[in-house]
Amino acid sequence: MTNDIKIIDGINHSKNLIESVKKLVLKSEKLNKRKPSIAVILIGENLASKIYVKNKIKTAEKIGIVSKRITLPSSISEKELLNKIKNLNEQREIDGILVQLPLPDHISEYKIILSIDPKKDVDGFHPINLGNLFLGNNNGMIPCTPLGCIYMLKKELGSLSGLNATIVGRSNIVGKPMQSLLLKENCTTTITHSNTRNLSGFTQKADILIAAIGMAEFIDNSYIKNEATIIDVGINRKKINDKNKILGDVNFDNVISKVNLITPVPGGVGPMTIACLMYNTVKASFLRNDYEFKEIIFDE
Ligand code: GUN
Repeated sequence: MTNDIKIIDGINHSKNLIESVKKLVLKSEKLNKRKPSIAVILIGENLASKIYVKNKIKTAEKIGIVSKRITLPSSISEKELLNKIKNLNEQREIDGILVQLPLPDHISEYKIILSIDPKKDVDGFHPINLGNLFLGNNNGMIPCTPLGCIYMLKKELGSLSGLNATIVGRSNIVGKPMQSLLLKENCTTTITHSNTRNLSGFTQKADILIAAIGMAEFIDNSYIKNEATIIDVGINRKKINDKNKILGDVNFDNVISKVNLITPVPGGVGPMTIACLMYNTVKASFLRNDYEFKEIIFDE
C-alpha cells in the first residue's frame, strides 16, 4: 500500500461539504429573502487569529454568505464587548456570531460565550449548545473542529459503532464535544490528558485516535495500535531552518507505516473546520427563522 492511500484528504472533504453548503445557501436565500450572514469579531493583534478570521471571511464571501468583520483593539473593556454582542444578538439580519479566541486576559471567555444568543452561536461553544450535544442531541450548533472530524471519520470508515476511540486532550472546544459525537456514533470513548498516567496504555487500544494536545509531533508510533485511524487536530507553528512550519500533534513520518488512515497537517482537520463553520452558519439561518433544516452530516 502506498502512503497516499492512507491519507484522509481534508481539502477534498471540505470541498464536498462546501458544495452541499452552497446549495443550502441558495435555499436559505429563497426562504429568508436575503443571504445568510455571519459577524466575526477579532480582538487585538494575534497573528494566528488574524489568519483564521481572514480565511473564514474569504470562504463565506466565496459561497454567498454575507460577512461582517468587526475588528476591536485589545484595550476594549469586557462591558464594551458585551454591548457589541448584545447589539449583534438584536440584529434580525445577522444569523451567526463568532468571537475569535483567545481573548485578552482581562475579558472572561465564559462571560462572552454566555452572552451570545445560542441560536446565533455558530461556534457551538454556548453551554446550551454544548449541553444539548452532551445529551446526544445533534440538532443544535456543534463546535466546528470536532464536527469536521466526525464528518471525515464517517465518510472514511462508514459505521463507527463499537470502535474504541481515544481522545488526547480535554478542551471544551475539541476534546469534550468530540467525545459526545463519538459516543453518539456508538464508539467506546476515553478522554486522556496531560495528567493521564500511562498514556500510551490508553492510546495503544484506540481504533480511532484523536490527537488534540497542542504539542508538536508528540504522538509517535509507540502510542498507536496497528491499523489505527488517526485524526490530528494539532496546529503548532514552529520556525525550522528560518522557515515557518505548521506541525501536527502526530509525528506523521514516524507513524505512517503503522496506520490505517491519517489526516495530514496542514490539509486535514483545518479546512474542515472552516467548512463546518459555513455549515453551522447556514444551519442557523434556517433554524432561527423557524424553517425546517435537513441535517446532512448525520442523516446518511
Ligand atoms: N480559536 C481557535 N479555534 C477557534 C474556533 O474554532 N473558534 C473561535 N471562535 N476561536 C478559535
